[in-house]
Amino acid sequence: MKSGFSKKQELYIRRAFDLARLSEGSAVPNPMVGAVIVFQNRIIGEGYFKGFGKSHAEVNAVTNVKEEDRQYLTQSEIYVSLEPCNFFGKTPPCTSLILKTKIPRVIISTIDKTPQVSGNGIELLRQNGVEVITGVLEKDGDELVKYRTNYVERESPFVILKYAKSKDGFIGQENKSVWITNHFSKILVHKWRSEINAIMVGTNTARQDNPKLTNRLYFGKNPLRIVLDRRDDLPEDLHLFSDGLPTWQITENITRTFSKKNVIQIEIPFDDFLLKNLLKKLHEEKIGTLLVEGGAKLLQSFIDQNLWQEARIFEGNKYLKNGILAPQISVTPNEEFKIENDTLKIFQNG
Ligand SMILES: NC(=O)c1ccc[n+]([C@@H]2O[C@H](COP(=O)([O-])OP(=O)(O)OC[C@H]3O[C@@H](n4cnc5c(N)ncnc54)[C@H](OP(=O)(O)O)[C@@H]3O)[C@@H](O)[C@H]2O)c1
Ligand SMILES: [Zn+2]
Repeated sequence: MKSGFSKKQELYIRRAFDLARLSEGSAVPNPMVGAVIVFQNRIIGEGYFKGFGKSHAEVNAVTNVKEEDRQYLTQSEIYVSLEPCNFFGKTPPCTSLILKTKIPRVIISTIDKTPQVSGNGIELLRQNGVEVITGVLEKDGDELVKYRTNYVERESPFVILKYAKSKDGFIGQENKSVWITNHFSKILVHKWRSEINAIMVGTNTARQDNPKLTNRLYFGKNPLRIVLDRRDDLPEDLHLFSDGLPTWQITENITRTFSKKNVIQIEIPFDDFLLKNLLKKLHEEKIGTLLVEGGAKLLQSFIDQNLWQEARIFEGNKYLKNGILAPQISVTPNEEFKIENDTLKIFQNG
């Protein structure tokens, strides 16, 4: 299908996407953004947003232009994966920078849904005589900032459900830990852990599997861990409580104090609104993404209450014959991948 944009425009916007992705995991809940400055088909500056409080992609791209190329800025175009910001946040607005450097042409993939921006950045540039082209590879641009868009539009974390099931539909077995997927799938899950803000498990999974929920097989950071512990009686020597990394313990009534300072105890009533209230609290703490890793009961409650945006479900190559049945999702998968002998299906909710 012809898009109406030139091959050249798509090429440089793709380069901006690649740069944006370098901040996978460190940008959220802010958006991943990349910027490329081009003079006569030559890239003279590139940059990306490295995370909260750091300078924006456009600023980094301009800063990276070599001294001898600065004279060309007034005849260059800047390609940005997302509409430039036009408000004072942690840093001055990028629209001011573009106007100051007199870059005459801005090519954008998608509009920033942040209420203060949302088309205003584009408007301001146009009012000041800058030529602005929008919508280049827009679908991909939207996908790149989907966590951010969810954060500002829904005011709740982007919830990703993740589990593995056996060929005969079981997620696990009573009172024993079983492994369903292969090593490559495990690495992929650790990569996902590096890309999100928080990860959550139910009480039985914490007690039975004693998971670490850290990213050990990929580079990057560990997510904040969240565990439900209604009666405040999960053993203190579980990895989640004892390894020194941050964990939120969600309980109905705090009855003990943990010796380790990494455990934050949070009291929330265990009523019908528990998950909703927890998501609200996570949003208040600027948590933009939550990966729910099981078990079946916790996952099913997110599904039943329609509190999820995406599900990533592995089907391993083994039969368990009995055990705990995997949750039921009633939508059809959007994508399907083979990871050696495992199948990964991705579902989008709405
Ligand atoms: N294959 C996989 O991907 C995978 C991943 C994780 C776990 N597992 C397996 O799954 C099994 C555990 O699954 P499971 O379903 O028994 O347990 P689970 O979901 O880990 O924990 C269930 C318990 O957590 C609490 N809970 C969960 N959702 C809640 C909600 N919405 N509101 C209030 N409390 C909630 C309740 O605890 P209380 O009733 O005590 O209050 C509930 O009984 C284990 O065998 C584990 O190995 C498999
Ligand atoms: Zn900016």
